[in-house]
Amino acid sequence: MWLLTFAQMIPAKTVQEVIEATRIEDVVGEFVTLRRRGINLLGLCPFHGEKTPSFNVNPSKNIFKCFGCGKAGDAITFLREHESMTFDDAIRWLARKNNIEIKEVERTPQQMLEQQLVDSLFIINDFGAKHFSDQLFETDEGKSVALAYFQLRGLREDTIRRFGLGYAPEHRDLLLQRAKKEGYSLDLLKQTGLCNQDANRDFFRARVMFSIHNLSGKVAAFAGRTMSKEKTIPKYINSPETPIYVKNKILYGLFQAKNAIRKQDDCILVEGYMDVISLAQAGIENVVASSGTSLTEGQLQLIKRNTENLTILYDGDGAGIKAALRGLDLALEQDLNVRIALLPDGHDPDSYVQEKGAEEMLSFIDKNKKDFILFKTNLLLEETKGDPIKKAGLIKDIVGSISRIPDPIKRSVYLKECAALLNVDEGALVTETNKNITGSLKKSSDKEARSGGAASDSGWDGSPNPEIPVEDPAFKVPQRPSGSGAAKGIVQERDIIRILILFGGHLLPEGVTVGQYILTDIEDSLSSFDEAIYGRIAQECHQLLAAGGNFDANYFIRHEAADVRNLAIDLMTAPWEYSTNWEDKVGLPLQNQPKPDLNFEADMRYAVDMFKFNKLRKMCDIVNPARIKQAMESNDYELLTYYLSVQMKIKEALTLIAKKRNIVVIPT
Ligand code: GTP
Ligand code: MN
Repeated sequence: MWLLTFAQMIPAKTVQEVIEATRIEDVVGEFVTLRRRGINLLGLCPFHGEKTPSFNVNPSKNIFKCFGCGKAGDAITFLREHESMTFDDAIRWLARKNNIEIKEVERTPQQMLEQQLVDSLFIINDFGAKHFSDQLFETDEGKSVALAYFQLRGLREDTIRRFGLGYAPEHRDLLLQRAKKEGYSLDLLKQTGLCNQDANRDFFRARVMFSIHNLSGKVAAFAGRTMSKEKTIPKYINSPETPIYVKNKILYGLFQAKNAIRKQDDCILVEGYMDVISLAQAGIENVVASSGTSLTEGQLQLIKRNTENLTILYDGDGAGIKAALRGLDLALEQDLNVRIALLPDGHDPDSYVQEKGAEEMLSFIDKNKKDFILFKTNLLLEETKGDPIKKAGLIKDIVGSISRIPDPIKRSVYLKECAALLNVDEGALVTETNKNITGSLKKSSDKEARSGGAASDSGWDGSPNPEIPVEDPAFKVPQRPSGSGAAKGIVQERDIIRILILFGGHLLPEGVTVGQYILTDIEDSLSSFDEAIYGRIAQECHQLLAAGGNFDANYFIRHEAADVRNLAIDLMTAPWEYSTNWEDKVGLPLQNQPKPDLNFEADMRYAVDMFKFNKLRKMCDIVNPARIKQAMESNDYELLTYYLSVQMKIKEALTLIAKKRNIVVIPT
């Protein structure tokens, strides 16, 4: 909650100012020795061990990227990952570096008071935790009642201490008395909820105690569990919400689990405090608890900071399943990979691991975990058996879930699998999904357009190239300035792919993305790429769009195929990548010109034309004079007519492009 309180103290304007003033190379340069290579800088990656440098810093995009381990991001990401800074700390650090004053130092008296309160509440909770711990370990009653209870439940002393467990005896005001004696403010005690509002009765009595830690390990709140089996007594009671205990921003066990979650790259979610503690004791440490409620967005974001994989481990009873389902959509929105394993009836993770041990627990999870969407689909399918109306509702439900997945590739995989499971047409699901996401997609591109990022402001309209002599059989395509070494036509293919990767998600004035524009335009040529990797990428983009997905540079940077990843990085970072005619046209090296980023629209239209021109020219080979002659000689008029009509069509198309681009076409 420190975080929260502080966050309000750096004005958003200052955050913006700091981000804008930040130069990635200066930040990374403080931690990594960088050497200039072209317009980029290169060094040894600080995130993984390496001997040859593959850690790239791109000043013009203000990002870093390691070709080796794939880590990438901006200066703030770097500080968060490398220095484990919080967002706020990173901003402060950067502000100091850039001599930007953060006005937070001029806190109002009100804010000073708030900060003081936060500090004080933590102090009171520390006192409470110490008190409960003393009662557990240092008193006869504690040892014979509470410690015995924990031991009966299989907990070792080191575990009990690690999780800050304790005991609140059945005594009206034991904690209060001690607080008074030691001089703690009763008013603050009331605020933490450790005593009642009259300050004459402890809140937690006759309960074993659980400390609830915040992310930095401070005690934010408590939970107390009754040892009585009496049904009328609530099993758990909790501290109330306070400035340091905002329930939907704290996940039980995360402080202890954090490192393990990162290491395993997986977070196991259970329901109860005891589940977390038992699993951790057994050596399964990457576990947090939802504390009996469904996860909030804030909690999911906490998970997401550590891993993208969430494994839900719940009881197999109806309540467990329902609770799991409730959390699904929110988790999907965070782009978490959600899997679920349901325990055999009558078990919760605590009882299972205590009875069978860690190994069996892990292998159970491994064997039984199911992808969440498919799990949900199957489950609902079971429920709606044979009822078409219910099934329609089910489809809507599933599609609703799938629509929330930000990653288009994942979305399309799910659509395919669910279509098969539900026995419905995949196309129908795609359409339905698209309808769902159009709204939000449109919103975000509107924003982009407004921010002016898409504006073409180079003053160059992408038109006429100087006249280019054309040779038989039909035309010559303007080639990249010599030295590229690329075979004829490959240059145009590379250009198309470069633009798809760099600008594929950008919105054009006609309301479609660059990707949509290009792929619709060159649809017929998708299978006739000469360079395999370019062809693969074009096909994949096409499929993505067809499945209602989208893609951008980040998608390719994180692509599962290493060659695609590398190509994307190459294209993103190469200083000399630009339209084939850029230098011819502008007559100046790119550095002195507006970057293609600012001019992607003209760049794209030109590249598409050149690509098509080149493909068409190739098609002319099919109808070359020799073949026509052969068809004539063999009196194959059908073939001849076909050749001639194809030839005519190609020429028409070519002429159109040639006119537009001022390429001189010499008739054959
Ligand atoms: P044990 O019964 O000791 O194994 O605890 P548990 O953690 O397994 O409890 P259970 O599975 O019954 O409940 C899961 C979680 O829901 C608990 O850890 C609590 O966070 C929460 N919970 C359960 N009962 C109550 C209750 O009566 N009040 C509140 N506030 N929370 C509860
Ligand atoms: Mn339990």
